Amino acid sequence: MPESVASYAGVLAEALAAVGQATSEEALDALRVRYLGRRGAVTELLRGLAGADAVERPRLGAQLNAVRRRIEEALEEAVARTREAGRASARAAETLDVTLPGRRPPRGGLHPIGRLIDEISEIFLGLGFEVREGPEVETERYNFDALNTPPDHPARDAGDSFYIRPGLLLRTHTSPVQIRTMEAEDPPIRIIAPGRVYRRDALDATHSPVFHQVEGLYVDRGVTMGDLKRTLATFVRRFFGPKHRVRFRPSYFPFVEPGAEVDMSCILCDGRGCRTCKGSGWIEILGAGMVHPRVLEVLRGRGHDPADYTGFAFGMGIERPFMLRHGVDDIRHILENDLRFLARFAS
Ligand code: PHE
Repeated sequence: MPESVASYAGVLAEALAAVGQATSEEALDALRVRYLGRRGAVTELLRGLAGADAVERPRLGAQLNAVRRRIEEALEEAVARTREAGRASARAAETLDVTLPGRRPPRGGLHPIGRLIDEISEIFLGLGFEVREGPEVETERYNFDALNTPPDHPARDAGDSFYIRPGLLLRTHTSPVQIRTMEAEDPPIRIIAPGRVYRRDALDATHSPVFHQVEGLYVDRGVTMGDLKRTLATFVRRFFGPKHRVRFRPSYFPFVEPGAEVDMSCILCDGRGCRTCKGSGWIEILGAGMVHPRVLEVLRGRGHDPADYTGFAFGMGIERPFMLRHGVDDIRHILENDLRFLARFAS
């Protein structure tokens, strides 16, 4: 059957050309169905052999099977070829250009106020102090009573302090940590207590209803006002620089006697007088004094006689020194956490 042999060659040539042009595995699958599938061209020809001359049939059958194998081989080769091409283009797409500048991932960091507290803590650690903390929600007993604050003291007023309910408020200073520490530990006690404090002040450039303080307390036998002065002078020199001086002005806090307000020489004008120090050459940085005997009464709780001990205490705001040191003129910048501001202090 010569036509049949010719048509076999035609089908083979057509199939090999189509396979040669196919560029995807999907296209090759479709070709496999078209030629070798149940209704495929080669399959139909094999079926046609049933009606062929019995003498010719074996030779035609062998030829058709050879055609079938050639197409199968061609398909296999083509599948391998398209897969390799796909891998090659994927590799090309993934190529790294190592000369491109890197993308810097945004990095978080400690808040500048937290870093300042760490720095202050380091200085006091170097002077033999340890760090203690207390709760921000405080009882009236720790915040006022045990600190010898009279019942009619203005700080107790609901207009000045944030009460949660009667007897419970957001601490107005870090001084309650003095009491908590003396309740829990035996003298000698030499601690600082950094943390947030709260007062009902309207927010403006220099006031905020929440700010930070560092409390200091040293209780032992024979602690003197001289120890207090030397400690604070050392702190100021280490923190602000060696040429800075401190001065004490008599002042009143219920929990110390005598009490003082402590100034340092103005860091902007070095004591000559400028706008920041209002011409005085001095800037107030903290309250301090000798721990009041009534406050030392708490030592009895652990079996100590308060008469055997003296102590000094101080309380220092954090935001103000921060602003002075960095030339920040508005406390709200420190509170708002605008990343453009914070980034200035990133290390
Ligand atoms: N607690 C006082 C304040 O907040 C500061 C202070 C602390 C004064 C310790 C004397 C001794 O203003």
